[in-house]
Amino acid sequence: MNTLINKRILLGISGGIAAYKSCYLVRDLIEQGAEVEVVMSRGSTKFVTPLTFQALSGRPVHSRLLDHDAESGMGHISLARWADLIVIAPATAHMIAKLAHGMADDLLTTLCLASDSTVMVVPAMNRQMWENPATQENVDRLKGFGMVFIGPDVGEQACGETGAGRMVEPAEIRQLINDHFSSSILTGRHVLITAGPTREPIDPVRYISNHSSGRMGYAVAQAAIEADAKVTLISGPVSIKPPDRAHYVPVATAAEMQIEVSKLIETTDIFISAAAVADYRCIDVSDQKIKKSNENIELQLEKNPDIIASVTASVHKPFTVGFAAETNDVSENAKIKLRSKAMDMIAANPVGPGIGFESDLNTLDIYWEDGHIDLGTATKHKLARNLIKLIANRYHEKNTG
Ligand code: C5P
Repeated sequence: MNTLINKRILLGISGGIAAYKSCYLVRDLIEQGAEVEVVMSRGSTKFVTPLTFQALSGRPVHSRLLDHDAESGMGHISLARWADLIVIAPATAHMIAKLAHGMADDLLTTLCLASDSTVMVVPAMNRQMWENPATQENVDRLKGFGMVFIGPDVGEQACGETGAGRMVEPAEIRQLINDHFSSSILTGRHVLITAGPTREPIDPVRYISNHSSGRMGYAVAQAAIEADAKVTLISGPVSIKPPDRAHYVPVATAAEMQIEVSKLIETTDIFISAAAVADYRCIDVSDQKIKKSNENIELQLEKNPDIIASVTASVHKPFTVGFAAETNDVSENAKIKLRSKAMDMIAANPVGPGIGFESDLNTLDIYWEDGHIDLGTATKHKLARNLIKLIANRYHEKNTG
């Protein structure tokens, strides 16, 4: 499965001759659908020019920590948050030593300290430098911090010696990056997800709706697919493409969404309700366009069915996760909803101008009966992957007693 679509990979290049191999890696990652931001150490620009990486990645290359232009746009903290994964290839002995001691004297080391994403280190150096106890101690230290090492390969080296220290080939690195993003934590499970807004008609040309873009729910669907679940995505009208491997059911109104959910609930293991379901609908939908007049008009609204409440009340109650988009008292309101709708878990997110709806970023705080975790602010794709991991853990815990 191609799991690199929508993945944001920050590729750090440190100064070694193997930097040329990273050109192929960038090309390969981009071909697989990933977005790549390249960060170069000063030394690495002597081996390959930033222009080469800029041309391959289609984005400006970052190299300076305190760069006024960069800090006002994609500054070091935004870059650290942006990255789903940091890959340092090639990683020199010096770069490994700096990381092992928590140094932050350039952009790349600072990013590694500021990011909570996995860091993959792909060493490339002379075999004696690799075997040196100082390097080996630094490597052990970084493994202890959770960094993942790829290689080095054994073979002929650019310096003429033979031994361990060659950078792993780009195709193999890409495969390991692929593996990092796919897992089998939800193999054999049917995950039903609702997403997007609903549209409640007023007359044939007008409707009541909300600002939901569907991006959070679609990212959750993608993450569930990567976790090897069978995914059904029931979605209100949005302008984004559903993930390729989701069974896609488009709907417009809350009533239609409820019908589609109820058809599938018996076979659902996990229900994730990310849709922003309109709370009210018109009692009388005019079958002709309502004409403008000089008078004010009143619309009579009635409550829509609460889809999630009907799911948790059903005899086939699946593991149920809701979302609480709130403008104020986010955690209090989320906890009240968790209990009142009998959900297993709720993801609370603040919404308002520029946050939540229609944005690539989101902030999620997850609550369950006796626990809570703050997933912080990140891209919706990254949050979705963390949310799916959490859901899978809780789901398996619940089902194994
Ligand atoms: O709208 P509210 O904040 O109560 O939404 C909380 C959760 O309930 C969300 O997961 C939403 O998808 C779900 N919901 C629903 N049916 C409704 C309203 C909300 O399933 N009519």
